[in-house]
Amino acid sequence: MQVAVFGLGFVGLTTAIGFAKQGFQVRGCEIDTHKCAMLQKGKIPFHEAHLDTALQEVLGKTLTITHNTTQALQNARVIFYCIGTPMGKDGEANLDFILQALRDFAHNKNICAPKPILVIKSTIPPSSSTEVFIPFLQSLGLQNNQDLILANNPEFLREGSAYEDFMHPDRIVIGSQNAQIIPALQELYAPFGAEIIHTNLNTAEFIKYLSNTTLSMLISYANEMSMIAQSIGGIDIIQAFKTLHTDKRFSGTPAHITSYLYPGMGFGGYCLPKDTLALLKKSQDKGYQAKILPNILAINDQILDFHLNRFQKEVPKDTKIGVLGLSFKPNSDDIRDTKSATLIQGLLQRGFLHIGAFDPMATQAFQSTYALDIDYFEDLNALYAWAEVFIIATAWDIFTNTIPPHKKIYNLRYMPITPKE
Ligand SMILES: NC(=O)c1ccc[n+]([C@@H]2O[C@H](COP(=O)([O-])OP(=O)(O)OC[C@H]3O[C@@H](n4cnc5c(N)ncnc54)[C@H](O)[C@@H]3O)[C@@H](O)[C@H]2O)c1
Repeated sequence: MQVAVFGLGFVGLTTAIGFAKQGFQVRGCEIDTHKCAMLQKGKIPFHEAHLDTALQEVLGKTLTITHNTTQALQNARVIFYCIGTPMGKDGEANLDFILQALRDFAHNKNICAPKPILVIKSTIPPSSSTEVFIPFLQSLGLQNNQDLILANNPEFLREGSAYEDFMHPDRIVIGSQNAQIIPALQELYAPFGAEIIHTNLNTAEFIKYLSNTTLSMLISYANEMSMIAQSIGGIDIIQAFKTLHTDKRFSGTPAHITSYLYPGMGFGGYCLPKDTLALLKKSQDKGYQAKILPNILAINDQILDFHLNRFQKEVPKDTKIGVLGLSFKPNSDDIRDTKSATLIQGLLQRGFLHIGAFDPMATQAFQSTYALDIDYFEDLNALYAWAEVFIIATAWDIFTNTIPPHKKIYNLRYMPITPKE
């Protein structure tokens, strides 16, 4: 299988060398003639551990380097694009360099292998393939899935350990709308021994941004907390963060912290809402206007409205609605500040009249705390039989495999559920 890699920067050079090291025939194409000449002599234009040794091992054997597009595309079956997507003038990702490379491909399509796979490895905002690249290729007379197959394969390597990360990936994400790409990409990635996750194009593109913005959010969050700590005074920030890191939730595989980094209906319960607000108030008193904490609370208020507005559009008012779960989290009967109460209040305010609810532990406490005009079911199967639409409001395991088929489920906790056969 002939592989071509366009753009030999941090990502592309590592990709080209990585596949060449696994024995595939790779042609790397770099448009910058100075960079290209250096690479052809076996010299790396930047510092990246192990990459120079690996380049020496494969150059002239399984890896050829060129700045000639035609030469790179000759018989190419899989073509990786690892071209820069720098910040545009209004902050958008600039896709012009990729578009230019796709134009070059269109001019040379006939010298590639039939129906080549074009894999975008550059980081591109979600929907770029479907809304920009596929229409662009169409405007050049090329149909996706017919003349070529477009795929997205985000790269997660970190500068400083690029080669190690590429050779030992956590997982490989491949987005496409065509299963025909699977055998070729599986063959290419099999030697790396990582799980291959197949998604559609938008999801693969989104995953890369989910990953990067999670990291940027954590860094800014840590910085906001350090500014709050400094405004309050007398706080040993290093000790505080080091102690945070010893929390058991951060260790293990998968670390339990992942259950917090998961979408749902927002947080409730006795601690998170009141403590987040209390720290916000304290930092305000001390003269520091926090930016992230107020938004954490605002999003926590907004998320249920977002779900409810969608629900209201899709579900008629006289529908029998089954609310599954009343406690603020599973395996607990604590109903203080539970989001299920806000959900049910929101349903009643929107004019839904037929609401039934079930919880394996919290029904009594809920019923006596919140005066809500709904029906409480002691028997889950009775609720399953009665309701026409279900809302999973607390992620109790008991809902996983028991919900009757053919009934609509609003899985607001994004639980992995399999309806009962
Ligand atoms: N650097 C990272 O750590 C990293 C990690 C993951 C993903 N990414 C993403 O991968 C993409 C590439 O990043 P990078 O850091 O390798 O960029 P880079 O700027 O180091 O390399 C891009 C290379 O592409 C070359 N190029 C541009 N147009 C070309 C063309 N038509 N044909 C051949 N070569 C061409 C450029 O001359 C440059 O050498 C970006 O979208 C980036 O966001 C980067």
